[in-house]
Amino acid sequence: MFEKRPIIALDFPDGDSVKRFLGKFPEGESLYVKIGMELYYACGAEIISYVKSMGHSIFLDLKLHDIPNTVEAAMRVLAELGVDMTNVHAAGGVEMMAAAKRGFGKQGILIAVTQLTSTSQEQMQDNQNIQTTLEDSVRHYAKKTAEAGLDGVVCSAHEVGLIKEATSIDFVCLTPGIRPAGSDCGDQKRIMTPRQARSAGSNFIVVGRPITQAADPYQAYQAIKADWNASL
Ligand code: C5P
Repeated sequence: MFEKRPIIALDFPDGDSVKRFLGKFPEGESLYVKIGMELYYACGAEIISYVKSMGHSIFLDLKLHDIPNTVEAAMRVLAELGVDMTNVHAAGGVEMMAAAKRGFGKQGILIAVTQLTSTSQEQMQDNQNIQTTLEDSVRHYAKKTAEAGLDGVVCSAHEVGLIKEATSIDFVCLTPGIRPAGSDCGDQKRIMTPRQARSAGSNFIVVGRPITQAADPYQAYQAIKADWNASL
């Protein structure tokens, strides 16, 4: 699976900002966008129907983590919204992930978060009492995600190789932390350019600020898309 469109992270506080932003793209240009907790909790399901009515695809990034029964029921609701992709925390366990898959059904892509990229190895060992390397923990969670029958994981582009080796070449890796060559890294530390992520084997890239904060978002989007689709 390879998604040609970079997924744009709509990290905005309200629906009006989203409308303004999407208005900067030509009508008829079908985008793939990520809606996260802030926007979803602020606007509810309305933002999903609005974005869908414009013909865009949606990754709803809510990172569910609860008992299997609750997650399965919640996933049924998300499936009803018609989102194309959503996610859970792998730390919820195989049973929870399998329940999520049952709830979400087969119509969309379901992926899991392994270790958040904001977690350092030291924090993982201290806070979660996982006494191994971060890399080992990511590999372990990826295997459990595959065992539960999910489609893939959210990960750093630096982890794609080890994850596909531990699971399969078809296991989806969706990678944030992408920056065009020579741009501002913001608070992202371990970054890759779109082309590097492609060459590392990413299936989807998520890009936020380099597009949302650009003077000309459509131009920035096209440049990132061209780099991501460039032949290697
Ligand atoms: O602006 P930027 O390109 O850094 O945005 C990346 C997006 O991907 C943000 O919405 C951020 O929350 C999300 N993300 C991330 N790293 C992860 C998971 C999600 O940067 N491991």
